[in-house]
Amino acid sequence: MFNVFKKLNYIIDRRMKLETVGILLMVMLGTGLELLGIASIKPLIVGIMSEENARRQHWFKVLTAVFPVSDYKILVIIMLAGLSLIFIVKNVYLLYMYRCQNRFLYDNLRKVSLKMMRSYLNRPYSFFLEKSSSELLRNIDKDTSDLFGVIRSLVMLATEGCVVVALVAYLFIQDKSITIAVGFMLMIFAIIIVKVYRVKLLKMGQQNLYYESQVYKWVQQAFGGIKEVKVMNKEDFFYQSYDKAFQGRVRSEYTYHTMTSIPKPMIEAVVITALLGAAGIKIMHGTHMEYFVPVFSQFMVAAYRLLPSFNRLTEYIGAISYQKPAVDAIYNILKEMEAADAAGAADAAGVSTPNAAPLPFEQAIHVRDLTFHYENSDREVLRNVELDIEKNTSVAFIGSSGAGKTTLADLILGVLKPVSGKILADDMDIQENLNRWHHTIGYIPQNIYLMDDTIAANVAFGVPADEIDHEKVKRALARAQMTDAIAQMPDGIMTQVGERGVRLSGGQRQRIGIARALYTEPEILVLDEATSALDNETETAVMESIDALHGEMTLIIIAHRLSTIRNCDVVYKIENAKAVRTR
Ligand code: GTP
Ligand code: MG
Repeated sequence: MFNVFKKLNYIIDRRMKLETVGILLMVMLGTGLELLGIASIKPLIVGIMSEENARRQHWFKVLTAVFPVSDYKILVIIMLAGLSLIFIVKNVYLLYMYRCQNRFLYDNLRKVSLKMMRSYLNRPYSFFLEKSSSELLRNIDKDTSDLFGVIRSLVMLATEGCVVVALVAYLFIQDKSITIAVGFMLMIFAIIIVKVYRVKLLKMGQQNLYYESQVYKWVQQAFGGIKEVKVMNKEDFFYQSYDKAFQGRVRSEYTYHTMTSIPKPMIEAVVITALLGAAGIKIMHGTHMEYFVPVFSQFMVAAYRLLPSFNRLTEYIGAISYQKPAVDAIYNILKEMEAADAAGAADAAGVSTPNAAPLPFEQAIHVRDLTFHYENSDREVLRNVELDIEKNTSVAFIGSSGAGKTTLADLILGVLKPVSGKILADDMDIQENLNRWHHTIGYIPQNIYLMDDTIAANVAFGVPADEIDHEKVKRALARAQMTDAIAQMPDGIMTQVGERGVRLSGGQRQRIGIARALYTEPEILVLDEATSALDNETETAVMESIDALHGEMTLIIIAHRLSTIRNCDVVYKIENAKAVRTR
């Protein structure tokens, strides 16, 4: 439990802590009102039972002073009205309090989820090579919800706990022996529950977390590759795998819900039996009915109020154990990210701002003594590579599949970080100016990532719909040889492309990627097999418009077809982890 507080203290910010204090103060006021409600039962019953008794009471004197009526019945009516007023005010206040609590929880849920989303977006590209997107999805969505499940349970635990403690203390003052008898039984019961449940529920929670990401994963994998799934008749495999993941999730969830519903009937039985038993003993010992009836009614009303509270207390304690793994997961992620942020200014420079000035580029890109291997492997893909790319020249990287062309391009793009050596733009290290470098360089990959949006939105990529320059979009599409294809579409550049661009042909997707890179008018353009998917005729046309940039823009072209790189000024062959100039 202490562990949970320590981690939450780290996860939540100062403002949320202040809000928590506010919420707890509201809880205390609520408890005061609850107590007032219960405490007014006894005087009311005393007052109704006999006028004589009532007139001896101190509070009755106050009442007659405020309402100077002599008719006793009217005074009783006033008392009844007063009591219902107390209950109405109390419950209106409680509604308001629940609303505040929920707002507090959901506003902060959003804040933490955003914090996670932001930190993930700021991670370097290499981070994502190691992570599965279903895990990230679960972290941002499900884990943050569970984290707030824990916070909600803690807030509710405080709420119910305050009421329970206050009411029990009050009852204790009213009648020590009944309170002790019932309290003792409950205590034993609670200890057993907490002991047995904590370990088991924690384990269930961890299992649930694992299967939850499996469920996400199988949905993504099945529909992400639906065409292959259909052609190869593998529907059943994905169905079975999904079922297996879901079974795991269901098992942990129903165990959890069953376990948390066991205490309710048991607590009720224990409390009622203990209460009636204590009453029986009291009657045997010859308690005065005049004393016993008001006190006992009060206990019954309190039991009616407290029983659900006890149930909820066990539920919240269970929920905290069950959802605690999410607190651990988020704590670890935020810690990891903090460490990564502290690790170097280079990473901090990766945090993008949309309006940074492009990095000036006047002379050449210099690759100096560059060595690189991927994080999870020792094999050096590039070793001590040296090369220069003069401004406004066209440079080709060729080499067999797996030689390291894409890796070299990714290093020049700055999304991968050299293990040793440097890449300089003029004399500036690109890793130290990544944000600005990305305003200088453009990229056309082999597989264009299209958003489920319009063609215009995909060309302008990441520009809000009302800020897109349609003329510029059309110019970029024209240079990518897309004008004719667009003319045949129902809505022109406002045509929806579908998820990952499924409503376009492969070549059309590719040309939208080319238009996207041209839209930002970069100084340098990297094409990684950008035209390999096109037919010869379209490729020639696209390459012609790219060749038209020859001398105006620096081009780095990776291609297998020699025709594609015919017009390049310089050719490097990537082989045995080296770059060898062949033209
Ligand atoms: P083609 O695109 O097929 O023409 O090859 P390429 O020259 O672009 O090769 P690339 O740079 O993609 O890969 C070079 C080597 O690095 C290959 O042996 C890959 O197996 C390896 N590699 C690529 N990406 C990763 C990665 O994310 N992790 C690890 N560990 N290895 C990788
Ligand atoms: Mg490649």
